[in-house]
Amino acid sequence: MMLSGKARVAGVMGWPVSHSRSPRLHGFWLREHGIDGAYVPLPVRPEDFAAAVRALPKLGFAGANVTVPHKEAALAACDAVSALARRIGAVNTLVCRPDGSLYGDNTDGFGFLENLRAGCPGWRPEAGPAVVLGAGGAARAVVAALLDAGCPQVRLTNRTRDRAAELAADLGGAIEVVAWEERSAALADAGLLVNTTTLGMTGAPPLDLALEALPASALVTDIVYAPLVTDLLARAQARGNAVVDGLGMLLHQGRPGFEAWFGVRPEVTPALRAAVLGDAPA
Ligand code: ATR
Repeated sequence: MMLSGKARVAGVMGWPVSHSRSPRLHGFWLREHGIDGAYVPLPVRPEDFAAAVRALPKLGFAGANVTVPHKEAALAACDAVSALARRIGAVNTLVCRPDGSLYGDNTDGFGFLENLRAGCPGWRPEAGPAVVLGAGGAARAVVAALLDAGCPQVRLTNRTRDRAAELAADLGGAIEVVAWEERSAALADAGLLVNTTTLGMTGAPPLDLALEALPASALVTDIVYAPLVTDLLARAQARGNAVVDGLGMLLHQGRPGFEAWFGVRPEVTPALRAAVLGDAPA
């Protein structure tokens, strides 16, 4: 739709940002709802982030998403942040408030859980232990969301064990750090398996994980969505596990921001998935 002088503007701050699918995501919703608004890529160098983020309210932005490598810096730059963002240590959604202040939240865990709930309605977080591979920023949001949703135990395993131990100490709760070498054995009795590492992504090494110990009732999901069906998901599906791909996490994490900036609660639909995937290989 044609923009008017009253158009509301949001965007995504990252470096680099050209790979981000968020402009497609929010652009789809803006068109779908005929909103007088825009969502733009904002390439911001790390050394410029502090000044750039403080300029958002001054420029009249409704808010922004924040992606790699700025999520921790965004937390520090906000005037107020949600308790969840503080606990995770990162902000991915900024809202410019009428008084000119910046509010920060983290919707990655929300996106993660909503994606699982939508993709596998029978899954219950409280039904059994979750095995989480990786201890980066995505893992922090995923583990916090699982614990908050009632997951009885998170078995956390990471190549660099200290990072997993630090995550466990920061978040507290029922997190058991498991040695990376023991990751396959840790699948016994699990209700959920989550890959938050970059392993299995196009161009990255494969994820080396034996699935024999994983119960057939366990749900398997991958944060990686390029390729959409990772080797992990294909192997899990072949042995009868329910699987949910990672694209939905990206789509669902965008919903709270869109609603805050543009005043409409958007939905995740097959048409949205197709639009965001575009010409990317399935
Ligand atoms: P994000 O914040 O998006 O989660 P990240 O902080 O770069 O990204 O984390 C990437 C994750 O993939 C980490 O858990 C990383 O393990 P380390 O903490 O040991 O670096 C994991 N990872 C990346 N390459 C890996 C590899 N070759 N083998 C095992 N784990 C790997």
